[in-house]
Amino acid sequence: MRILAVESSCDETAVAIVEDGRRVLTDCIASQVDLHRIYGGVVPEIASRKHIEAIYKLAEQALSDANMTRGDIDAVAVTYAPGLIGAVLVGVNFAKALALALGKPLIPVHHIRGHIAANYLAFEELKPPFLCLVVSGGHTMIVDVQDYTKMEILGTTLDDAAGECFDKVARVLGMPYPGGAALDKASQDGDDTKYALPRSKPGSNPYDMSFSGLKTAALNLIHHAEQVGEELDINSLCASFSAAVSDTLVPRLVQALQQTGHKKLAVAGGVAANSRIRADVLQAAKELGVQTFMPPLSLCGDNAAMIGAQGYYEYLAGHTADMSLNAYATKSIIGEQL
Ligand code: KG4
Ligand code: ZN
Repeated sequence: MRILAVESSCDETAVAIVEDGRRVLTDCIASQVDLHRIYGGVVPEIASRKHIEAIYKLAEQALSDANMTRGDIDAVAVTYAPGLIGAVLVGVNFAKALALALGKPLIPVHHIRGHIAANYLAFEELKPPFLCLVVSGGHTMIVDVQDYTKMEILGTTLDDAAGECFDKVARVLGMPYPGGAALDKASQDGDDTKYALPRSKPGSNPYDMSFSGLKTAALNLIHHAEQVGEELDINSLCASFSAAVSDTLVPRLVQALQQTGHKKLAVAGGVAANSRIRADVLQAAKELGVQTFMPPLSLCGDNAAMIGAQGYYEYLAGHTADMSLNAYATKSIIGEQL
């Protein structure tokens, strides 16, 4: 089954064609990052307008790259939640029109379920059940993936997402938006013990996390240094910050693995590209005898191939939509999807 998948929830317009949820025939992305960088973050209306301009051409490009015509498509999948609402609406409306014109099924896909499904593209052998650490710009959670469309959230951030914190700290350090990758790069030569930054303590749910205290501490440290004219060791600050984020995530992940008994662990989302988090997760899983799945960096960030992968399994589960499909700014990955 060949699914044309559309993703437009933030600042990347993307169209992919994926076969049977596992094989990427083509994966086209038009990034708006350079445009939003001028403003230091995503400007929602500009994002929507750029999606409108890009999406048709991108779909045509995807078909021609795959040597296919519209008639070769068996279904259309689309990110319908969560995201910048104006941006998601563009993709949803385009996908609806395409599905209607082709007379093919329309499959709504939750963006975060898509991030998890990026692992199916990278690892042919991976099948649920497994545990997944989801770390993106807007979400941070530990998910028990019981089946392709059945999952449970064990723990989540109670305030900021890890990606938001990376971006905020990077921005204050003068790094261009989105700063997570630049901060990661700067941390390579740093001493991760040089700056003492807080790690949130477990609350009533041991798997829940908090990052706002860490973010505030890092920002205060930077502002204080500016005020007193102290020169910061940026590389070491980035390394210390990355270590604190990882130390917040990994022990909870370890506990969740021990508690659930899962022997497979996957990571998902843009922040899963972070070198410190990847190294620490790998090490912890190795000590527990847990097999780790980490998609390549290209599949960690937003893309449409992951929507095509999850779309296949949503389709098999009977999760299709009619022409009344709407878009949602927020929605949980669990429970009824529409
Ligand atoms: O999953 P994603 O592409 O978009 C959302 O669904 O939010 O994640 C984007 C986030 C941004 O905050 C970006 O700075 C962060 O992922 N990111 C990183 C790295 N690469 C991307 N954060 C830390 N280290 C990285 N290497
Ligand atoms: Zn994403």
